[in-house]
Amino acid sequence: MSLTQLNAPKFDFKDYRSLSNEQLSQRIRAVKQNLGDSLQILGHHYQQDEVIEHSDLRGDSLQLSQLAAERDCEAIVFCGVHFMAETADIVSNSPQRLEDRNGQRVTVMLPDMRAGCSMADMAAIGQVEDAWADLGEVIDTEDITPVTYINSAASLKAFCGKNGGIVCTSSNAEKVLQWAFAQRKRVLFFPDQHLGRNTSLKMGITDDQMCVWNPHAQAMGGNERSVLENSKVILWQGHCSVHQMFKPEHVAAFRKQHEGIQILVHPECPREVNDIADVSGSTGKIIQTVQNAPAGTKWAIGTELHLVNRLKKEHPEQEIHFLSPVVCMCATMYRIDLAHLCWTLENYAAGSPVNVIRVDEKTQEWSLVALDRMLALS
Ligand code: 13P
Ligand code: SF4
Repeated sequence: MSLTQLNAPKFDFKDYRSLSNEQLSQRIRAVKQNLGDSLQILGHHYQQDEVIEHSDLRGDSLQLSQLAAERDCEAIVFCGVHFMAETADIVSNSPQRLEDRNGQRVTVMLPDMRAGCSMADMAAIGQVEDAWADLGEVIDTEDITPVTYINSAASLKAFCGKNGGIVCTSSNAEKVLQWAFAQRKRVLFFPDQHLGRNTSLKMGITDDQMCVWNPHAQAMGGNERSVLENSKVILWQGHCSVHQMFKPEHVAAFRKQHEGIQILVHPECPREVNDIADVSGSTGKIIQTVQNAPAGTKWAIGTELHLVNRLKKEHPEQEIHFLSPVVCMCATMYRIDLAHLCWTLENYAAGSPVNVIRVDEKTQEWSLVALDRMLALS
């Protein structure tokens, strides 16, 4: 559970709505200049251009959690979504880091508290605990490593920490699953069924060794006992509403119309798309793949729209298309705008921090166990 400190903001958000982007940017730069390195703005690659421009550090989920764990600063403003800010709070305020700083906490802020993740919301801690208890009636839970995608609430990470499990991101899912299978013979993977399935298939785990757990089913996640008994990987029935919009017919249309085009997708895309793509990888890998390609390479990219548009701008020497004919953008990432960023920074600078993300102590302790297991592998 995250605790939000309730401070009366010194500045009211409504006064920021009418400011132009230029005015907001100027004021953001002024706060950054005054506070120097004591304040770090972290930005995920899916952020809008005008926001990411102000970030000190940008990255994918894994890179940002590593950066938050390493950085020495007094405050982090996280331009991303809620679970990312929670992770930053957990790792930057670990007992070890607190001791290094003589007990001084890093204040982590999320410019807009409505910036959540619909996938993370598809697995609630009560549902996961119920699933674990139900599974225990059919198979020995001592045989299961729970693995949570980093796109999940801190309480799920804590569940994994307590139960011998681990966190993964889209950059290290294969390494994490190898670790998980080195501990126990089965995995319960939540909340993204697609990342879990795509990674398992890549590792040679077959369809008949996987099943899907529907948390809304009447019993046993909608599975027969025999199916669960034979499963190596139990996939939670969750998905990313952005990446699930990419379809095999989009891939076929690009291949038909653009000879030599390569399809580059994020592993949150459904299997039908992931299987036929030329390259699949995290946002970090997508960026690297484009950066390393020779001029003239043609790509159709299946990931969040803002990142694809940025790649188009930054690589005019290549031909880059968005894989879907419809707009697939992350509406919650988009909630972070210059007005919210400026409002957050100015309140922090005035000594009245807003939207502080603070994970309670017990949850932090156990989620750190699961996060540290992951960070040790990366
Ligand atoms: P990565 O940053 O690991 O590529 O994940 C993408 C995503 O959906 C972030 O929410
Ligand atoms: Fe969540 Fe998908 Fe948005 Fe990532 S892109 S924050 S997984 S909804």
